[in-house]
Amino acid sequence: MSTPAAPSFEKAPPTAAGGAPLLRIADLGVTFASAAGPVHAVREVSLDLHAGQVTALVGESGSGKSVTALTLLGLTRDRGTTVTGSAMFDGVDLVTAPDRTLQGIRGKRIAMVFQDALSALNPVYRVGAQIAEAIQAHEQVGKAEARRRAVEALAEVGIPQASERADAYPHEFSGGMRQRVMIAMALSCQPELLLADEPTTALDVTVQAQILDLLLRLKEERGMGVLIVTHDLGVVAETADRVAVMYGGRIVEEASCEDLFADPLHPYTWGLLGSVPPIDGPKPERLPAIAGAPPSPTALPDGCSFRSRCPHEFSACTGLPSLEAATTGAGDRHADRCWLPDEQARAVRHVGEGRIGLAPKPAPAGDHGRPA
Ligand SMILES: Nc1ncnc2c1ncn2[C@@H]1O[C@H](COP(=O)(O)OP(=O)(O)OP(=O)(O)O)[C@@H](O)[C@H]1O
Ligand SMILES: [Mg+2]
Repeated sequence: MSTPAAPSFEKAPPTAAGGAPLLRIADLGVTFASAAGPVHAVREVSLDLHAGQVTALVGESGSGKSVTALTLLGLTRDRGTTVTGSAMFDGVDLVTAPDRTLQGIRGKRIAMVFQDALSALNPVYRVGAQIAEAIQAHEQVGKAEARRRAVEALAEVGIPQASERADAYPHEFSGGMRQRVMIAMALSCQPELLLADEPTTALDVTVQAQILDLLLRLKEERGMGVLIVTHDLGVVAETADRVAVMYGGRIVEEASCEDLFADPLHPYTWGLLGSVPPIDGPKPERLPAIAGAPPSPTALPDGCSFRSRCPHEFSACTGLPSLEAATTGAGDRHADRCWLPDEQARAVRHVGEGRIGLAPKPAPAGDHGRPA
């Protein structure tokens, strides 16, 4: 029996979270120029991503999730776009690093699975060749070795008959399989950090579960850090170690996954959780939606961006609350950007039908006594 080829995915020991972060995002801001005026897509975003940990970025459409991820790879560097703050990765600030430096990191040390898998693959190249090309762009390997690694990467993400399928074009794959091809491509250079933007949206639940299992396995086996961007709290619950909730370009709550679901402190988070069907018990006929619409990123209100939709708005909310962190009993960081003192938030938080949701907006709110 011949010796099996060495796996292309070397197993790295999982790194315990809590040490120095793999990536430290500090005060990140992204403003696009537009005919309607500046678009403040991302504001004051600070977040640590750790090796061997999945962090979920969750929030409504337009909240700035994709722009945050794209900015980390220098993909929002257009004329007219202003990026402020920093994102430190192994001593390199991804915000200010020269393009050449970023090219050496992008795809190799930090890889991204884009929100739209079909448009991210070149339709006229066979998928195996695309993955092999990505490997050769970053590593000094010959064509045959790159091809071998590409086939292995496809097999690793569960594509059957990988060596034959490597010769197929993107349109010859189903949506779920194409998503796996994207993930294979992203993982082929063994990145330390994977940015996965809605990696399972539009996939059926079985395929979604398989892809999420794959990401979790690679996190465990390689100690890879993962930032998963999603609007699906089911995906968050299944995968995330930590969760950052975005609203209007800002992080409004950040906590361990357990704390976020068990003890959410921001009224927007309650709304998000309330609009998810309960796991057990009878399904309600209609799920409560958060009334109103998110603010336009070209006309953001002063103070808390959520206040016009918040049932608990009071006088302080015209001022911008800071992302105030507390340490939980288990020693985890739990931060939220709300003027309501935590105890008061817990007291007014509406819990119904076995899950947490938003209470109906009451008549003009009283002042909760917290100074502005
Ligand atoms: N290149 C751009 N120029 C101008 N505005 C942009 C640009 N890219 C994104 N935006 C705006 O920035 C805001 C944040 O967009 P982003 O794509 O990050 O949202 P998202 O949270 O990923 O939403 P979704 O869940 O729909 O993917 C949106 O208002 C969007 O219209
Ligand atoms: Mg997006």
